[in-house]
Amino acid sequence: MCGIIGILGREAVAPQLVDALKRLEYRGYDSAGVATLENGRLTRRRAEGKLKNLEQRLAREPLAGLVGIGHTRWATHGRPNEINAHPHAADRVAVVHNGIIENFNELRGELEGRGVRFASETDTEVVAQLVAAVMAEGFGPVEAVKAVLPRLRGAFALAFVFEGEDDLMIGARRGSPLAVGYGDGEMYLGSDAIALAPFTSRISYLEDGDWVVLHRGSVQIYDEAGAPVERPVLTSSASAFLVDKGNFRHFMAKEIHEQPEVVGHTLAHYVDFAAERIVLPDLPFDFRDIERVTIAACGTAYYAGLTGKYWFERLARLPVAVEIASELRYGDAPLAPGNLAVFVSQSGETADTLATLRHAKANGQHVVSVVNVPTSTIARESDVVMPTLAGPEIGVASTKAFTCQLVVLACIAIAAGRARGNLSEDDERRLVRALTEVPRHMTAALALEPEIEKLARDIAKSRDVLYLGRGTSFPLALEGALKLKEISYIHAEGYAAGELKHGPIALIDETIPVIVIAPHDRVFEKTVSNMQEVAARGGRIILVTDPQGAKEATVESLATLVLPHMPASVTPMVYALPVQMLAYHAAVIMGTDVDQPRNLAKSVTVE
Ligand code: F6R
Repeated sequence: MCGIIGILGREAVAPQLVDALKRLEYRGYDSAGVATLENGRLTRRRAEGKLKNLEQRLAREPLAGLVGIGHTRWATHGRPNEINAHPHAADRVAVVHNGIIENFNELRGELEGRGVRFASETDTEVVAQLVAAVMAEGFGPVEAVKAVLPRLRGAFALAFVFEGEDDLMIGARRGSPLAVGYGDGEMYLGSDAIALAPFTSRISYLEDGDWVVLHRGSVQIYDEAGAPVERPVLTSSASAFLVDKGNFRHFMAKEIHEQPEVVGHTLAHYVDFAAERIVLPDLPFDFRDIERVTIAACGTAYYAGLTGKYWFERLARLPVAVEIASELRYGDAPLAPGNLAVFVSQSGETADTLATLRHAKANGQHVVSVVNVPTSTIARESDVVMPTLAGPEIGVASTKAFTCQLVVLACIAIAAGRARGNLSEDDERRLVRALTEVPRHMTAALALEPEIEKLARDIAKSRDVLYLGRGTSFPLALEGALKLKEISYIHAEGYAAGELKHGPIALIDETIPVIVIAPHDRVFEKTVSNMQEVAARGGRIILVTDPQGAKEATVESLATLVLPHMPASVTPMVYALPVQMLAYHAAVIMGTDVDQPRNLAKSVTVE
């Protein structure tokens, strides 16, 4: 999490640093700061909270200087106040950091034992202090950084500038992403290509363990062993324009409404509409040889994976284990070589997912990633990348990336089903036709917004909310609960409808809205029985269903949201929309910061 930027420029860099930080704010917004060499002296401006506080500070106290670094923080060690805000400085060095220095306590103890006084509670300050200590022994900045890097354990992307060194910036990467940008007589470091987009499209991604010495006229990259290495210079297609909200009040609202379009784009990437066939990129394996699929992801992407399991098992008769990425490595699950591991991630940088991907690779799995950022580390380290074409997702709560992930997983499952002989050509046609109709059904779902907005008033008054679903509606119940809690801060839980009677039913009383996601599918009747159980205990039901479901559900409900009838294979993509809108409107009523909810960040690059 945290975003870092560094610029060796030809004019005052502070405004450019702030511009880049705006593009990185999705990575964290607990505090922000910049440091430049103003008249040869290291000078910092830092501010607690969102970037706009730093901007106000810089308007009052501008910062000159042609070289500088900047940071937007998602707090790990130390409270999110100004003292703990980056850049951290010690003597002649200033540093910004994304990641966690795991042995910082030990290093801090050692330095304090030598009389060093720390200004902050952060793990990052030890890096600045260590480099300063080596420089105090008479070493230059490059030697000092080179000596310190092997002493750091954990994950980091670092950018350093040094007092008296107007033409020098050093970067280093282990675990957390870092890109070098090549300008015209200018050089850049940034957490991602989006940050660098206004300045340059020529980018090199550092590999794990790399560190880099930048001057305005040259770049030298070294690997972990200190050997000079070349990394390819790619042309990034990241847009230089900051994506805007259009006529929407929040990015999240805009992204919810973009779904018919971006799902259409994603479908077009995997479907030959004329032939009604799925077309996947070339695969280095045959689905007939796969005995087991592991899907790993975090948060919303994990719920997409849970949904995918139903499709892989039903359509391709392939057993699937869906794992929370942070847990997979600890469980010692046997991964027989030659099987398939699928990693789902919007950002492509989630540290837990990346670590699990490496674990799967080391265990001989074929690695496929479903990612929204095709230049991300997860994409680059996968055998095959299956992009979601959702476009930049700025709202911290994932919406359009989720439905695009569902589309891609469904396409892979159909292709696997065909390859394994479990689906006929006609089956494939039928399934593809159903997918093709999804954008149209999504548009109908969006038309329910005025009704949903009214229902959200009731949700916003509640302390707890339950979401229930069976089959592929179960992961959606989990996703609905996650969406509501992360942006409205209302406590919510998702359950498999059949589990209700095994515990959660104890929670039901007339104060609890129960949102039941129940298209009229083969498990509908059973879900209706669960609704009866809720109604009998005074629970207030909001039923999300289709015309047949609305007709047959004879339970007294607070409200029924009626979506068009559609094949069961595509209900998760479409039913996601009312669930997202309910959370969105509840959050708007609660007055929370919908796009940047407290304590969260869009790209979670710490384990
Ligand atoms: C919730 C949300 C998170 C992410 C999770 C994984 O709305 O966005 O739960 O889904 O942090 O992130 P990615 O998909 O970037 O790996």
